[in-house]
Amino acid sequence: MRLLLKIVPFAQLVEQYGTPLYVYSKKTILDDMRRIEAAFDGTPHVTYYAIKANANSQILQILAAEGLGADVASRGELFLALRAGFPPSRITFSGVGKRDDELVYALEHDIFAYYVESTQEIEVLNQIAGSMGKRARILLRVNLDIDAGGHAYVSTSLRHNKFGLPHAKALEVLRTARSLPHIDVRGIHSHVGSQITKSAIFVKAAEAVAEIIRHLRDGGVPIEDLDFGGGFGIQYHGFIRNKHLPLEHAEEAHLTSTDLLRAALPILRTLDCRLSIQPGRAIVAHGGTLLTRVIYRKETEEKTFLIVDGAMNDLIRPALYHAHHQIVPLQITNAPFETVDVVGPICESGDFFAFDRRLPRMERGDVMALMCAGAYGYVQASVYNARPRPAEILVDKANHTVIRPRETLEQL
Ligand code: LLP
Repeated sequence: MRLLLKIVPFAQLVEQYGTPLYVYSKKTILDDMRRIEAAFDGTPHVTYYAIKANANSQILQILAAEGLGADVASRGELFLALRAGFPPSRITFSGVGKRDDELVYALEHDIFAYYVESTQEIEVLNQIAGSMGKRARILLRVNLDIDAGGHAYVSTSLRHNKFGLPHAKALEVLRTARSLPHIDVRGIHSHVGSQITKSAIFVKAAEAVAEIIRHLRDGGVPIEDLDFGGGFGIQYHGFIRNKHLPLEHAEEAHLTSTDLLRAALPILRTLDCRLSIQPGRAIVAHGGTLLTRVIYRKETEEKTFLIVDGAMNDLIRPALYHAHHQIVPLQITNAPFETVDVVGPICESGDFFAFDRRLPRMERGDVMALMCAGAYGYVQASVYNARPRPAEILVDKANHTVIRPRETLEQL
């Protein structure tokens, strides 16, 4: 039997560290990150990596060393970003609910900017900054009322969503903010959703922010900064193409996040702003894989189940968003294809990785890879059912490092 996935030595890692196991390829992460940077084609910009997508300290260090900035969503993420070496001048703080202690911590470290989402947040920030003898730079997050498509849980810019303020209110809010002594209004921010796979959405969002910027400038609010957010979708289906695997077709096949970004750039370039983006998934998703082993095969009248040792606590994306992760057996065999449910051991029917998936027949003990699990994988893991979280391994050429040991029973 040959190994199907030769990109990294998965079989050896499984042998050494067991399953379930997250494995990352440094090369893939850097290649994807550099492609995004190259898509700007020389347009000055800052990329703030949205560290919520994957906050492993070693991965953060790699991205910080490449000169990226970081977008953080909590005090914990700010702590990790600082520890990994992101300079405070390249850190932004997003989120609809920043606690007072989080604002104090960020002000102590003089981060670049706060992406504010309510008038009360601006008032509190002004008051806390004043009490510390500081000024806070802000970008107002505008809700563009654009349907980003995809799963409702990751669409963020519809009028009924909790995020941002309606664009009709932006002028009034920023005029008031400019009168506050400890607030420095820098510009606006928009983030329309995640795993967006259509360039038309980004073009629409770029046109909408262009319109808002004109409106604000006409109204006497200077706009220096525009952060266009993240959300650039990646290809999950058919990531690995091989004659021993069932073909996977989907609308996102051949999708590249850089094409999505490129569609918006001609508009964004004309706005005379300091431009930034905050991608998460597009940088780290392809570089990560979750390996899991078949514990049992079980055949009923209705179904064939592959019961694996990974579960929704390790990778919740299928359970939470019905997300698709391509499944690839580690070994090539001549086994015929069959239709199976790949499920975990947790006591819920929602604990699944795939329903009715065509896969080459796999047996007890076989290992499979869930592809493109580098974003929103480990960071969303839990210890539900008292299952310790998996280990994380980083492969760099011929070397590999344990970048997070498997959680132990004592740590539960
Ligand atoms: N900026 C802000 C303010 C965000 O809220 C997010 C993601 C990003 C940037 C990065 O978005 P990206 O480029 O990664 O799409 N757990 C979900 C995704 C949630 C996204 C939350 N916000 C999933 O597994 O699909």
